[in-house]
Amino acid sequence: MPIAETAASTALDLSWVRSQFPALAQTVNGHPAVFLDGPGGTQVPQRVIDAITDYLRRDNANTGGAYATSRRTDAMIAGAREAMADFFQCGRDEVVFGPNMTTLTYAMSRAIGRDLGPGDEILVTRLDHDANVSPWLALEEKGVTIRWAEIREQNCTLDITDLASKINERTKLVAVGYASNAVGTINPVKEIVRLAHAVGALAYIDAVHYGPHGLIDVAALDCDFLVCSTYKFFGPHMGVLFGKREHLKRLQPYKVRPNTNAIPNCWEWGTLNHECIGGIAACVAYLADLGKRAHPEASMRREAIVAAYEAIHHHERGLMERMIRGLTAIPRLKLYGIADPLRLEERCATFAVRVEGHTPLELATKLGERGFFTWDGNYYALNLTEQLDVEKSGGFLRIGLVHYNTADEVDRLLAALREIVSD
Ligand SMILES: Cc1ncc(COP(=O)(O)O)c(C=O)c1O
Repeated sequence: MPIAETAASTALDLSWVRSQFPALAQTVNGHPAVFLDGPGGTQVPQRVIDAITDYLRRDNANTGGAYATSRRTDAMIAGAREAMADFFQCGRDEVVFGPNMTTLTYAMSRAIGRDLGPGDEILVTRLDHDANVSPWLALEEKGVTIRWAEIREQNCTLDITDLASKINERTKLVAVGYASNAVGTINPVKEIVRLAHAVGALAYIDAVHYGPHGLIDVAALDCDFLVCSTYKFFGPHMGVLFGKREHLKRLQPYKVRPNTNAIPNCWEWGTLNHECIGGIAACVAYLADLGKRAHPEASMRREAIVAAYEAIHHHERGLMERMIRGLTAIPRLKLYGIADPLRLEERCATFAVRVEGHTPLELATKLGERGFFTWDGNYYALNLTEQLDVEKSGGFLRIGLVHYNTADEVDRLLAALREIVSD
């Protein structure tokens, strides 16, 4: 029976989780380090570190050679591709590795843009990270028109009526984020894919920020492309793209002549970061183990990944409610994004705040001295900070929770913030 239909345990074994991440034991100025910088990049479990070093110690070689280390490298990459296929819920040949999401998206926009010209339109959103905007804006040089889906400023959600009104028979692609890396909004991606497909447009999903928080199922979404970065979900610094087989076959990559024409490798140029690909397989294995601890009957890897995200979701939901209660009780603090307790399923535990009389940089610096790792600025969600008119005054302070954070860390962060703003 699929996991979703069982009464699966949603308990996250938090002490086991934290024991997996050696970085969490650090201190700063005598304070325990509190990693609230997950949206910028998460920490990695020991097994990811081991996989990277073991590869370099034992298997380090280029691909396709007629000798042991090269064959082991080929097998390792094939295994990592299978792991990511289970992570995405797609075929192995639909998984493309690359240096990061931005590079993969530029490569794809270049290839998709070969067929586009004047009269064609691409829809982007104000809520998105610029990595899912500028690669499409670059196609303006071919005469493509870029249209913008606006947001509802009061809660930083996408205005779906506006978005739908800008999709028409000229629309060739809709580029949308699964979740906002600035304010945490989760977008109704399945519905947006449906709107795009209704006019024959492609749907390109940036799942970088969603990846650590929610289960990805490209089959259920029916999206054409979905891209994420493994360093945001407990893996090494790399990007991975899902592309529907028919598109990966049909589109023409810019590539060197000796490279194969077979998918997915024709989309992977030059020598990849093999040691990090080894780390990606270990990162998916970590998630699967986490899922098996919550739901021991999950025997297949995909089932275990589903169970892992159920447990992650449940834990993060509790932290999110605690954080919102605490933040909204701080005088002169403004929380951007959804705060309505009835709509918390539409956001993840990423919080953008501003406090009257304090710049985001000042807050992040004072928190940093106390061991709390937060971020300030726009984190490349530049179109949003400009729209909300906070760009010139330092953007937001961003506090990002993932599943290895604790309720105690939330309480300590809130206490530190209260103390700093009352100075
Ligand atoms: C939502 C979102 N999209 C895209 C990116 C870019 O990812 P990468 O660094 O892998 O290019 C980021 C990075 O912060 C992000 O948060």
